[in-house]
Amino acid sequence: MRFRKIDAKEIQGNLFQMIGSDWMLITAGSLEKHNTMTASWGGAGVLWNKNVTFSFVRPQRYTREFMDAGDVYTLSFYGPAYRNALTLCGTKSGRDVDKVKETGLTPAEAKSGAVYYEEASLVIVCKKIYTQDIDPAGFLVPEVSKNYENHDYHKMYIGEILEVHIKE
Ligand SMILES: Cc1cc2nc3c(=O)[nH]c(=O)nc-3n(C[C@H](O)[C@H](O)[C@H](O)COP(=O)(O)O)c2cc1C
Repeated sequence: MRFRKIDAKEIQGNLFQMIGSDWMLITAGSLEKHNTMTASWGGAGVLWNKNVTFSFVRPQRYTREFMDAGDVYTLSFYGPAYRNALTLCGTKSGRDVDKVKETGLTPAEAKSGAVYYEEASLVIVCKKIYTQDIDPAGFLVPEVSKNYENHDYHKMYIGEILEVHIKE
């Protein structure tokens, strides 16, 4: 199956389900050296007159080194057959295992140089346009701070959507 480029407004499906329940991969780096991790927090919407995504990555994630070093990254979504692959990418670090080898996912490069996997059903290519660490001074309710018992506050990445590809 081949990918077809679509407009962000043509994305089908419920993003709450797709991100929160089905999960996505955040992938950054180059084809030669990249890393990927599973994410179930984040979103997509409109900001500064741009279509954007919002991703939240804790400091200890290896993937974050690649996101900080580069300008582009991808969010990619997969069918149920890849649940085990996404579980692995969310429980093992690329510092310890070769996730491509372990999952059998096939890296590919978008026009911008961003890396995704051929097995995805939807790929959103993002350009980093804003980052900010979550500031605990902004927590207004106790249940939010409970997510940070180790004070490992996520960095928020706002990514301008450069390209969206779906499988035909
Ligand atoms: C379902 C699921 C969702 C996750 N969502 C996030 C997330 O949104 N942000 C984050 O920083 N880590 C998240 N994680 C944890 C990372 O995926 C996990 O720590 C991963 O091993 C990091 O890999 P890396 O060190 O190779 O980057 C999630 C894990 C799972 C299983």
